[in-house]
Amino acid sequence: MKVLFYTPQSDAAAWLRDLSRALPGAQLREWQPGDHAPADVAIVWRPPREMLAGRHDLRAIFNLGAGVDAILELEHDHPGTLPRNAQLVRLEDTGMAQQMVEYVTHAVLRYLRRFDEYDQLKAEQRWHVLDPHPRDTFTVGVLGLGVLGSHVAASLTSLGVPVRGFSRSARSIEGVATYAGQAHFDAFLDGVKVLVNLLPHTPDTHGVLNGRTLSKLARGAYVVNIARGAHLVESDLLDALEQGQIAAATLDVFVEEPLPPQHPFWKHPRITITPHISALTLREESVAQIAQKIGALMRGEPIGGIVDISRGY
Ligand code: NAP
Ligand code: GLV
Repeated sequence: MKVLFYTPQSDAAAWLRDLSRALPGAQLREWQPGDHAPADVAIVWRPPREMLAGRHDLRAIFNLGAGVDAILELEHDHPGTLPRNAQLVRLEDTGMAQQMVEYVTHAVLRYLRRFDEYDQLKAEQRWHVLDPHPRDTFTVGVLGLGVLGSHVAASLTSLGVPVRGFSRSARSIEGVATYAGQAHFDAFLDGVKVLVNLLPHTPDTHGVLNGRTLSKLARGAYVVNIARGAHLVESDLLDALEQGQIAAATLDVFVEEPLPPQHPFWKHPRITITPHISALTLREESVAQIAQKIGALMRGEPIGGIVDISRGY
């Protein structure tokens, strides 16, 4: 079996080392521009179009992340880029759910207990007690109840705050009030105090965090965007902060990454920024999952994580 590997990041050698241990019989090579030699499987993160275009011998493309939007964008911009017979397979959890649970728990507690405001008071050397937020109306709404969102929503119930979740098809999670489909979107949003976004980026979800959506939340709500920058209409967030409709936001993903130095988010006192680290791709867990799935595919067994290209996730 011939396996082609590509990442734009600096750790390709470590991936190749671990993959070659996990796939002992495979002929593994790192893709270089101009390499059009045959391959059965590709393992990639943000591949250039040239790597995939015309590779009709590929049986599967494994994406080194949960979100496949970058690969589907290649197909959208240049139809026919994705090899006709290859299945596109994404990572399922591989340690990302736990990281997301930690990130969101931290953000929710920080806002619930007003630690962000105490940081500001400390900077001004002010000893001042703020009124606590009532826990019973501190509703957290999780957009997307897939592999990651379902773990996050379930874990938040232990904080004793009301938890809601929104998905395309109906989902059931103990202790979580679930809403499904566009017709129930406004009911889901109504009164939400912390909106957490864990949707995939698709044509349907592009710009979903916009002025209209933000206006449906409780006054003085919080936004936690850990999915994709293109979900958020950045100027609408700035307006909603200015108007007091949104109290603060924690953002891990941006329309342009790295966030440009002159971007107004950097200096905004109520925006917390992290550099797309809410859930990192863990090499050991990811290599193990991919090797297991390649084995299953070769034996003709079904695998999870196959992307429905028409749906976009
Ligand atoms: P997933 O398992 O595919 O779950 C996606 C969820 O979103 C599903 O519940 C799905 O509904 C729902 N959904 C999709 N389109 C929808 C729509 N139009 N309306 C309502 N609900 C919709 O994905 P995942 O593994 O949880 O990952 C989610 C996203 O997190 C990824 O796509 C990626 O962009 C992002 N991510 C970010 C980081 C980071 O470090 N910042 C790391 C990992 C992942 P159904 O349940 O009905 O299908
Ligand atoms: C990271 O952003 C991922 O999609 O896994």
